[in-house]
Amino acid sequence: MSSTLITRIGTLVTNDPALGDGSPLGLIEDAALVLDGGSVVWAGRAADAPDADERHDAGGRAVIPGFVDSHSHLVFAGDRTAEFNARMSGRAYSAGGIRTTVAATRAASDEELEANLTRYLDEALRQGTTTFETKSGYGLTVADEARALRIAARHTEEVTYLGAHIVSPDYADDPAAYVALVTGEMLDACAPHARWVDVFCEKGAFDGDQARAILTAGTARGLVPRVHANQLTYGPGVQLAVELEAASADHCTHLTQADVDALASGNTVATLLPGAEFSTRAEWPDARRLLDAGVTVALSTDCNPGSSFTSSVPFCIALAVRDMGMTPDEAVWSATAGGAAALRRTDIGRLAPGARADLVVLDAPSHVHLAYRPGVPLVREVWRRGARAV
Ligand code: NIG
Ligand code: FE
Repeated sequence: MSSTLITRIGTLVTNDPALGDGSPLGLIEDAALVLDGGSVVWAGRAADAPDADERHDAGGRAVIPGFVDSHSHLVFAGDRTAEFNARMSGRAYSAGGIRTTVAATRAASDEELEANLTRYLDEALRQGTTTFETKSGYGLTVADEARALRIAARHTEEVTYLGAHIVSPDYADDPAAYVALVTGEMLDACAPHARWVDVFCEKGAFDGDQARAILTAGTARGLVPRVHANQLTYGPGVQLAVELEAASADHCTHLTQADVDALASGNTVATLLPGAEFSTRAEWPDARRLLDAGVTVALSTDCNPGSSFTSSVPFCIALAVRDMGMTPDEAVWSATAGGAAALRRTDIGRLAPGARADLVVLDAPSHVHLAYRPGVPLVREVWRRGARAV
Protein backbone atom coordinates (compact mmCIF):
# COMPACT_ATOMS: atom_id res chain seq x y z
CA MET A 1 0.00 0.00 0.00
CA SER A 2 1.37 3.43 -0.92
CA SER A 3 1.49 6.41 1.42
CA THR A 4 -0.72 9.46 0.86
CA LEU A 5 -0.04 13.05 1.83
CA ILE A 6 -3.22 15.09 2.39
CA THR A 7 -2.00 18.65 2.20
CA ARG A 8 -3.40 22.20 2.27
CA ILE A 9 -5.80 21.37 5.13
CA GLY A 10 -7.35 24.65 6.39
CA THR A 11 -8.04 23.45 9.95
CA LEU A 12 -7.16 19.95 11.11
CA VAL A 13 -9.00 18.50 14.10
CA THR A 14 -6.68 15.88 15.60
CA ASN A 15 -8.39 15.44 19.00
CA ASP A 16 -4.86 15.17 20.36
CA PRO A 17 -4.05 18.18 22.59
CA ALA A 18 -0.34 17.33 22.48
CA LEU A 19 -0.24 17.74 18.71
CA GLY A 20 -2.08 20.98 18.12
CA ASP A 21 -3.02 24.20 19.86
CA GLY A 22 -3.38 22.56 23.28
CA SER A 23 -7.19 22.54 23.18
CA PRO A 24 -9.03 19.20 23.45
CA LEU A 25 -9.55 19.31 19.66
CA GLY A 26 -5.80 19.63 19.08
CA LEU A 27 -6.33 22.06 16.20
CA ILE A 28 -3.60 22.63 13.60
CA GLU A 29 -4.00 25.41 11.00
CA ASP A 30 -2.47 25.05 7.49
CA ALA A 31 -1.98 21.38 8.21
CA ALA A 32 -1.17 18.12 6.49
CA LEU A 33 -1.58 14.42 7.23
CA VAL A 34 0.30 11.40 5.97
CA LEU A 35 -1.60 8.12 5.75
CA ASP A 36 0.02 4.72 5.28
CA GLY A 37 -1.22 1.16 5.72
CA GLY A 38 -4.67 2.39 6.77
CA SER A 39 -3.29 4.52 9.61
CA VAL A 40 -2.20 8.07 10.21
CA VAL A 41 1.60 8.14 10.31
CA TRP A 42 2.21 11.89 10.51
CA ALA A 43 0.18 15.03 11.38
CA GLY A 44 1.44 18.59 11.54
CA ARG A 45 1.96 21.86 9.68
CA ALA A 46 1.88 21.48 5.89
CA ALA A 47 5.18 23.34 5.63
CA ASP A 48 6.89 20.58 7.64
CA ALA A 49 5.25 17.60 5.93
CA PRO A 50 7.40 14.69 4.73
CA ASP A 51 7.09 13.29 1.20
CA ALA A 52 4.66 10.52 0.33
CA ASP A 53 3.90 8.36 -2.72
CA GLU A 54 0.66 10.20 -3.49
CA ARG A 55 -0.49 13.73 -2.85
CA HIS A 56 -4.07 14.93 -2.25
CA ASP A 57 -4.91 18.63 -2.08
CA ALA A 58 -7.58 19.50 0.53
CA GLY A 59 -7.82 23.01 -0.93
CA GLY A 60 -7.87 24.84 2.40
CA ARG A 61 -10.81 22.82 3.72
CA ALA A 62 -11.21 21.48 7.26
CA VAL A 63 -10.42 17.85 8.03
CA ILE A 64 -11.89 16.09 11.05
CA PRO A 65 -11.86 12.49 12.32
CA GLY A 66 -14.69 10.37 10.89
CA PHE A 67 -17.77 10.43 13.12
CA VAL A 68 -18.13 7.59 15.61
CA ASP A 69 -21.85 6.91 15.95
CA SER A 70 -21.92 4.84 19.12
CA HIS A 71 -25.69 4.31 19.29
CA SER A 72 -28.03 3.14 16.51
CA HIS A 73 -30.78 0.56 15.94
CA LEU A 74 -30.42 -0.33 12.27
CA VAL A 75 -31.54 -3.95 12.01
CA PHE A 76 -35.24 -3.45 11.45
CA ALA A 77 -37.99 -3.56 8.85
CA GLY A 78 -41.26 -1.68 8.45
CA ASP A 79 -42.30 1.89 8.62
CA ARG A 80 -43.56 4.20 11.38
CA THR A 81 -44.31 7.32 9.39
CA ALA A 82 -47.90 7.32 10.64
CA GLU A 83 -46.73 7.22 14.26
CA PHE A 84 -44.40 10.18 13.67
CA ASN A 85 -47.13 12.05 11.85
CA ALA A 86 -49.58 11.46 14.71
CA ARG A 87 -46.97 12.56 17.24
CA MET A 88 -46.36 15.80 15.38
CA SER A 89 -50.12 16.27 15.60
CA GLY A 90 -50.09 15.95 19.38
CA ARG A 91 -49.80 12.30 20.37
CA ALA A 92 -47.08 11.47 22.90
CA TYR A 93 -44.15 9.08 22.30
CA SER A 94 -44.14 5.84 24.25
CA ALA A 95 -42.04 2.68 24.21
CA GLY A 96 -45.13 0.88 22.85
CA GLY A 97 -44.39 1.84 19.25
CA ILE A 98 -41.44 -0.56 19.32
CA ARG A 99 -43.96 -3.43 18.95
CA THR A 100 -44.85 -2.23 15.44
CA THR A 101 -41.24 -2.58 14.34
CA VAL A 102 -40.89 -5.94 16.11
CA ALA A 103 -43.77 -7.38 14.07
CA ALA A 104 -42.35 -6.07 10.78
CA THR A 105 -38.81 -7.21 11.62
CA ARG A 106 -39.91 -10.74 12.50
CA ALA A 107 -41.78 -10.96 9.19
CA ALA A 108 -38.81 -9.77 7.09
CA SER A 109 -36.31 -12.05 5.36
CA ASP A 110 -32.60 -11.92 6.19
CA GLU A 111 -32.02 -10.30 2.78
CA GLU A 112 -34.54 -7.54 3.46
CA LEU A 113 -33.02 -6.80 6.87
CA GLU A 114 -29.51 -6.67 5.47
CA ALA A 115 -30.56 -4.50 2.53
CA ASN A 116 -32.20 -2.08 4.94
CA LEU A 117 -29.13 -2.01 7.17
CA THR A 118 -26.77 -1.35 4.25
CA ARG A 119 -29.00 1.41 2.97
CA TYR A 120 -28.75 3.32 6.26
CA LEU A 121 -25.05 2.59 6.60
CA ASP A 122 -24.40 4.05 3.15
CA GLU A 123 -26.50 7.05 4.10
CA ALA A 124 -24.48 7.50 7.31
CA LEU A 125 -21.16 7.07 5.50
CA ARG A 126 -22.09 9.81 3.04
CA GLN A 127 -22.62 12.04 6.08
CA GLY A 128 -19.22 11.25 7.53
CA THR A 129 -19.79 8.29 9.85
CA THR A 130 -16.86 5.89 9.63
CA THR A 131 -17.63 3.73 12.71
CA PHE A 132 -21.04 2.79 14.02
CA GLU A 133 -22.46 0.65 16.76
CA THR A 134 -25.77 -1.08 16.17
CA LYS A 135 -28.16 -3.24 18.17
CA SER A 136 -30.66 -6.04 18.04
CA GLY A 137 -33.92 -5.37 19.88
CA TYR A 138 -36.61 -5.64 17.22
CA GLY A 139 -36.72 -9.47 17.18
CA LEU A 140 -37.33 -10.41 20.83
CA THR A 141 -37.26 -14.15 20.14
CA VAL A 142 -34.13 -16.28 20.45
CA ALA A 143 -33.90 -16.81 16.69
CA ASP A 144 -34.80 -13.23 15.70
CA GLU A 145 -32.38 -11.60 18.12
CA ALA A 146 -29.53 -13.91 17.11
CA ARG A 147 -30.13 -13.30 13.41
CA ALA A 148 -30.18 -9.51 13.91
CA LEU A 149 -26.77 -9.73 15.58
CA ARG A 150 -25.37 -12.06 12.91
CA ILE A 151 -26.46 -9.60 10.21
CA ALA A 152 -25.06 -6.60 12.13
CA ALA A 153 -21.74 -8.37 12.74
CA ARG A 154 -21.17 -8.60 8.98
CA HIS A 155 -20.94 -4.80 8.94
CA THR A 156 -19.44 -3.69 12.26
CA GLU A 157 -17.51 -5.05 15.21
CA GLU A 158 -19.59 -2.85 17.53
CA VAL A 159 -22.62 -5.09 17.95
CA THR A 160 -24.97 -4.84 20.94
CA TYR A 161 -27.37 -7.45 22.27
CA LEU A 162 -30.61 -5.63 23.18
CA GLY A 163 -33.00 -8.55 23.73
CA ALA A 164 -34.19 -6.34 26.61
CA HIS A 165 -35.58 -3.54 24.45
CA ILE A 166 -39.14 -4.14 25.66
CA VAL A 167 -40.84 -7.19 27.12
CA SER A 168 -41.73 -9.31 24.11
CA PRO A 169 -45.47 -9.10 23.33
CA ASP A 170 -45.45 -12.92 23.59
CA TYR A 171 -44.66 -12.56 27.31
CA ALA A 172 -46.93 -9.62 28.10
CA ASP A 173 -48.51 -11.54 31.01
CA ASP A 174 -45.22 -12.85 32.38
CA PRO A 175 -42.37 -10.33 32.21
CA ALA A 176 -40.30 -12.41 34.66
CA ALA A 177 -40.31 -15.30 32.19
CA TYR A 178 -39.10 -12.94 29.46
CA VAL A 179 -36.24 -11.72 31.67
CA ALA A 180 -35.36 -15.40 32.27
CA LEU A 181 -35.27 -15.95 28.50
CA VAL A 182 -33.14 -12.83 27.89
CA THR A 183 -30.65 -13.89 30.58
CA GLY A 184 -30.75 -17.57 29.59
CA GLU A 185 -31.38 -19.18 26.24
CA MET A 186 -31.44 -15.92 24.27
CA LEU A 187 -28.16 -14.76 25.81
CA ASP A 188 -26.57 -18.13 24.95
CA ALA A 189 -27.58 -17.69 21.31
CA CYS A 190 -26.61 -14.02 21.11
CA ALA A 191 -23.41 -13.64 23.15
CA PRO A 192 -21.15 -15.14 20.47
CA HIS A 193 -22.21 -12.44 17.99
CA ALA A 194 -22.02 -9.35 20.23
CA ARG A 195 -19.54 -7.20 22.11
CA TRP A 196 -22.04 -5.31 24.26
CA VAL A 197 -25.20 -5.93 26.30
CA ASP A 198 -27.82 -3.20 26.62
CA VAL A 199 -31.19 -2.79 28.33
CA PHE A 200 -33.94 -0.16 27.99
CA CYS A 201 -34.27 0.75 31.69
CA GLU A 202 -37.48 2.76 31.62
CA LYS A 203 -41.14 2.78 32.72
CA GLY A 204 -42.91 0.55 30.21
CA ALA A 205 -39.72 -1.43 29.52
CA PHE A 206 -37.45 -2.83 32.30
CA ASP A 207 -37.11 -1.66 35.91
CA GLY A 208 -33.84 -1.34 37.83
CA ASP A 209 -33.87 -4.88 39.25
CA GLN A 210 -34.63 -6.43 35.89
CA ALA A 211 -31.98 -4.27 34.21
CA ARG A 212 -29.38 -5.30 36.80
CA ALA A 213 -30.17 -9.00 36.25
CA ILE A 214 -29.88 -8.61 32.47
CA LEU A 215 -26.65 -6.63 32.52
CA THR A 216 -24.93 -8.88 35.06
CA ALA A 217 -25.94 -11.99 33.11
CA GLY A 218 -24.41 -10.39 30.00
CA THR A 219 -21.25 -9.47 31.87
CA ALA A 220 -20.89 -13.06 33.06
CA ARG A 221 -20.86 -14.08 29.37
CA GLY A 222 -18.11 -11.60 28.51
CA LEU A 223 -20.30 -8.79 27.17
CA VAL A 224 -19.73 -5.22 28.34
CA PRO A 225 -22.76 -3.23 29.52
CA ARG A 226 -24.24 -0.06 28.05
CA VAL A 227 -27.67 1.21 29.16
CA HIS A 228 -30.64 3.10 27.69
CA ALA A 229 -31.04 5.26 30.78
CA ASN A 230 -33.26 8.12 31.97
CA GLN A 231 -34.73 8.86 28.55
CA LEU A 232 -38.44 9.35 29.15
CA THR A 233 -38.44 9.71 32.96
CA TYR A 234 -36.14 9.91 35.97
CA GLY A 235 -35.08 6.43 37.06
CA PRO A 236 -32.34 4.09 38.24
CA GLY A 237 -30.64 3.53 34.84
CA VAL A 238 -27.81 6.04 35.06
CA GLN A 239 -26.68 5.08 38.56
CA LEU A 240 -26.94 1.40 37.69
CA ALA A 241 -24.78 2.00 34.60
CA VAL A 242 -22.09 3.70 36.68
CA GLU A 243 -22.25 1.03 39.37
CA LEU A 244 -21.83 -1.78 36.82
CA GLU A 245 -19.07 0.18 35.03
CA ALA A 246 -21.04 0.34 31.82
CA ALA A 247 -19.16 1.89 28.92
CA SER A 248 -22.02 4.33 28.39
CA ALA A 249 -25.33 5.57 29.77
CA ASP A 250 -27.35 6.62 26.75
CA HIS A 251 -30.00 9.37 26.51
CA CYS A 252 -29.50 10.93 30.02
CA THR A 253 -32.40 13.29 29.40
CA HIS A 254 -33.83 13.29 32.93
CA LEU A 255 -31.03 13.54 35.48
CA THR A 256 -31.03 14.28 39.20
CA GLN A 257 -27.96 15.85 40.78
CA ALA A 258 -27.11 12.39 42.18
CA ASP A 259 -27.13 11.02 38.61
CA VAL A 260 -24.78 13.77 37.43
CA ASP A 261 -22.50 13.21 40.45
CA ALA A 262 -22.42 9.46 39.76
CA LEU A 263 -21.42 10.03 36.13
CA ALA A 264 -18.77 12.55 37.19
CA SER A 265 -17.21 10.13 39.67
CA GLY A 266 -17.31 7.02 37.47
CA ASN A 267 -15.96 5.79 34.15
CA THR A 268 -19.24 5.73 32.26
CA VAL A 269 -19.63 8.06 29.27
CA ALA A 270 -22.93 9.97 28.94
CA THR A 271 -24.13 9.53 25.35
CA LEU A 272 -26.61 12.20 24.30
CA LEU A 273 -29.00 11.52 21.43
CA PRO A 274 -30.68 14.78 20.43
CA GLY A 275 -32.35 13.21 17.38
CA ALA A 276 -34.66 11.47 19.85
CA GLU A 277 -35.67 14.69 21.61
CA PHE A 278 -36.13 16.39 18.24
CA SER A 279 -38.33 13.61 16.87
CA THR A 280 -40.41 13.19 20.01
CA ARG A 281 -40.64 16.90 20.85
CA ALA A 282 -39.17 16.17 24.25
CA GLU A 283 -37.09 18.27 26.62
CA TRP A 284 -33.40 18.45 25.60
CA PRO A 285 -30.70 16.72 27.65
CA ASP A 286 -28.59 19.28 29.51
CA ALA A 287 -25.15 18.74 27.99
CA ARG A 288 -23.79 21.90 29.66
CA ARG A 289 -24.56 20.59 33.13
CA LEU A 290 -22.78 17.30 32.39
CA LEU A 291 -19.74 18.97 30.82
CA ASP A 292 -19.44 21.46 33.67
CA ALA A 293 -19.48 18.53 36.10
CA GLY A 294 -16.57 16.93 34.23
CA VAL A 295 -18.55 14.09 32.61
CA THR A 296 -17.29 12.67 29.29
CA VAL A 297 -20.08 13.27 26.76
CA ALA A 298 -20.64 11.45 23.45
CA LEU A 299 -23.07 12.56 20.77
CA SER A 300 -24.79 10.00 18.55
CA THR A 301 -27.83 9.59 16.33
CA ASP A 302 -29.87 6.78 17.97
CA CYS A 303 -30.97 6.14 14.37
CA ASN A 304 -34.13 4.00 14.61
CA PRO A 305 -37.52 4.03 12.89
CA GLY A 306 -39.47 5.16 15.97
CA SER A 307 -37.87 7.88 18.04
CA SER A 308 -35.01 9.25 15.90
CA PHE A 309 -35.01 8.41 12.22
CA THR A 310 -31.87 10.32 11.33
CA SER A 311 -28.48 8.90 10.37
CA SER A 312 -26.93 12.37 10.35
CA VAL A 313 -24.29 13.15 12.97
CA PRO A 314 -23.92 16.72 11.57
CA PHE A 315 -27.61 17.28 12.31
CA CYS A 316 -27.07 16.08 15.90
CA ILE A 317 -24.08 18.41 16.26
CA ALA A 318 -26.19 21.36 15.16
CA LEU A 319 -28.97 20.46 17.64
CA ALA A 320 -26.48 19.98 20.48
CA VAL A 321 -24.98 23.42 19.88
CA ARG A 322 -28.29 25.20 19.39
CA ASP A 323 -30.29 23.55 22.15
CA MET A 324 -28.08 21.67 24.60
CA GLY A 325 -25.51 24.26 25.57
CA MET A 326 -22.53 22.67 23.80
CA THR A 327 -19.91 24.78 22.06
CA PRO A 328 -19.16 23.79 18.45
CA ASP A 329 -15.76 22.45 19.59
CA GLU A 330 -17.37 20.31 22.30
CA ALA A 331 -20.01 18.93 19.95
CA VAL A 332 -17.43 17.94 17.31
CA TRP A 333 -15.25 16.33 20.01
CA SER A 334 -18.24 14.41 21.41
CA ALA A 335 -19.25 13.11 17.97
CA THR A 336 -15.74 11.81 17.28
CA ALA A 337 -13.51 11.22 20.34
CA GLY A 338 -16.56 11.03 22.63
CA GLY A 339 -18.13 8.27 20.52
CA ALA A 340 -14.81 6.42 20.56
CA ALA A 341 -14.72 6.71 24.38
CA ALA A 342 -18.27 5.34 24.57
CA LEU A 343 -17.03 2.33 22.61
CA ARG A 344 -13.82 2.12 24.65
CA ARG A 345 -11.75 2.59 21.51
CA THR A 346 -8.50 4.53 21.25
CA ASP A 347 -7.74 3.73 17.59
CA ILE A 348 -10.55 5.90 16.18
CA GLY A 349 -12.02 9.36 16.84
CA ARG A 350 -8.64 11.08 16.51
CA LEU A 351 -6.12 11.86 13.78
CA ALA A 352 -2.72 11.37 15.33
CA PRO A 353 0.09 8.98 14.42
CA GLY A 354 -1.07 5.42 15.09
CA ALA A 355 -4.77 6.18 14.75
CA ARG A 356 -6.89 4.68 12.01
CA ALA A 357 -6.99 6.89 8.93
CA ASP A 358 -10.77 7.49 9.11
CA LEU A 359 -11.45 11.11 8.23
CA VAL A 360 -13.81 13.62 6.68
CA VAL A 361 -12.93 16.54 4.41
CA LEU A 362 -15.55 19.24 4.96
CA ASP A 363 -16.70 21.69 2.33
CA ALA A 364 -15.82 24.44 4.81
CA PRO A 365 -12.68 26.02 6.22
CA SER A 366 -13.52 25.08 9.82
CA HIS A 367 -15.29 22.33 11.78
CA VAL A 368 -17.42 25.09 13.37
CA HIS A 369 -19.42 25.22 10.13
CA LEU A 370 -21.05 21.91 11.09
CA ALA A 371 -23.14 23.92 13.57
CA TYR A 372 -22.96 27.28 11.81
CA ARG A 373 -24.44 25.89 8.56
CA PRO A 374 -27.12 23.45 9.79
CA GLY A 375 -28.76 21.24 7.20
CA VAL A 376 -26.11 21.94 4.56
CA PRO A 377 -24.33 18.88 3.12
CA LEU A 378 -20.77 19.82 4.15
CA VAL A 379 -19.28 16.32 3.96
CA ARG A 380 -17.23 16.45 0.77
CA GLU A 381 -14.94 13.41 1.12
CA VAL A 382 -14.83 10.45 3.49
CA TRP A 383 -11.71 8.30 3.90
CA ARG A 384 -11.81 4.98 5.70
CA ARG A 385 -8.64 3.13 6.69
CA GLY A 386 -6.64 5.42 4.46
CA ALA A 387 -8.74 4.91 1.31
CA ARG A 388 -11.32 7.21 -0.23
CA ALA A 389 -14.84 5.85 0.54
CA VAL A 390 -16.93 8.86 -0.59
O1 NIG B 1 -33.33 4.65 21.81
N1 NIG B 1 -35.33 3.95 23.83
C1 NIG B 1 -35.47 2.86 23.31
N2 NIG B 1 -35.22 2.56 22.06
C2 NIG B 1 -35.19 3.52 21.01
C3 NIG B 1 -36.54 3.73 20.44
C4 NIG B 1 -36.88 2.63 19.58
C5 NIG B 1 -38.19 2.77 18.89
O2 NIG B 1 -39.07 3.61 19.21
O3 NIG B 1 -38.33 1.96 17.98
C6 NIG B 1 -34.50 4.77 21.47
O4 NIG B 1 -35.06 5.88 21.45
FE1 FE C 1 -31.67 3.75 21.39
